Amino acid sequence: MKKHSAFRVHSESPYNGEPPVDLLRENFTTPSELFYVRNHGNVPEINATTYRLVVNGMVEHPLELSLDQLKRDFPSSTLMATLQCAGNRREELMEISPIPGEVPWGAGAIGNAYWTGVPLAEILKFAGLKAGADYVAFTGMDQVIQKGKDVGFGASIPLDKAMDDHVLLAYEMNGAPLEPLHGYPLRVVTPGYIGARSVKWLTRIAVQPMASQNYFQAHAYQLFPPQATAETADWDAGLQLGELNVQCAICSPRAGEQVKGEVVVQGYALSGGGRKIARVDVSGDGGNTWTTANLKHQEHGWAWTLWEARLNVPRGQHEIVARAVDSASNAQPEDARHLWNFKGYMNNAWDRMKVRVE
Ligand code: MTE
Repeated sequence: MKKHSAFRVHSESPYNGEPPVDLLRENFTTPSELFYVRNHGNVPEINATTYRLVVNGMVEHPLELSLDQLKRDFPSSTLMATLQCAGNRREELMEISPIPGEVPWGAGAIGNAYWTGVPLAEILKFAGLKAGADYVAFTGMDQVIQKGKDVGFGASIPLDKAMDDHVLLAYEMNGAPLEPLHGYPLRVVTPGYIGARSVKWLTRIAVQPMASQNYFQAHAYQLFPPQATAETADWDAGLQLGELNVQCAICSPRAGEQVKGEVVVQGYALSGGGRKIARVDVSGDGGNTWTTANLKHQEHGWAWTLWEARLNVPRGQHEIVARAVDSASNAQPEDARHLWNFKGYMNNAWDRMKVRVE
């Protein structure tokens, strides 16, 4: 698949990249050439004809389903949902203190798409849940080598979340079959959660009493306190990340830009758990005074909104700031320094751009 020529590739193997955010804000539905890619391992080559999805664990009827069966025998549903990586905006945390060994994501590790597939709940109901199950675990087909061992990629979500009909086993993105980079032939889409819980190249669903033991659920993607380091962290006691927090980023103008006259500020905002964005505040003077931005359409709380504010800013150097409030009145923290953690996750501080107004 071709990514846009301006795509910012962080690594070729595994392939990781994000679009420049000034291009990202141009489309309400992110075209696949601009949709970020977060891979921990290879992109498996999967033959859709021989492909089977295994459903087992605490179910009455274990299943092995072909792609045709999934499409033919179960209802299909299309949902707009935004995916965002837990590492989105890590770059700003890295400027505060180094975060070695992690991808330096800007604000482009996010994308909004229409996903078409089978609601996960339909498959689980068909398989029949046994009493005592609390989690649904997913396994991908990619190989992920950690310290010389293939740990694969997996994740889990609580059963309550899995039984909500917005969690999809998606085979299409924006009306076309999934691209290999995005999980062909089948991926999970867990709206409102960090992207790591939307497992690509899905091969197995297991219903179980505990969360997945996979490295990427039990070890990585945990939030640790600010004083923790890779050496001192209690790896059994971090917060296993799930629901997204309230987020807002400025896509234009970008830091260092020269702007003439009225400053048109544009960006995106999104929250977790299906909460809609209630308001976006934009400041042209570092957060002393605020203007309420115009929110463009927001389909529902599983998808982002794009916004725009027009500011009259006097000539000179200024700091443009943006922050969002969601429908539960969750607000963003003012300063990324209060959010720093050694894995560099969940940065949702007020976004700031220093610009020069001519
Ligand atoms: N699924 C598998 N099998 N392997 C992966 O490396 N990366 C996860 C998730 N699903 C990953 C995966 C992470 S961390 C994110 S943020 C999203 O996929 C990214 O989805 P995308 O590459 O389609 O944008």
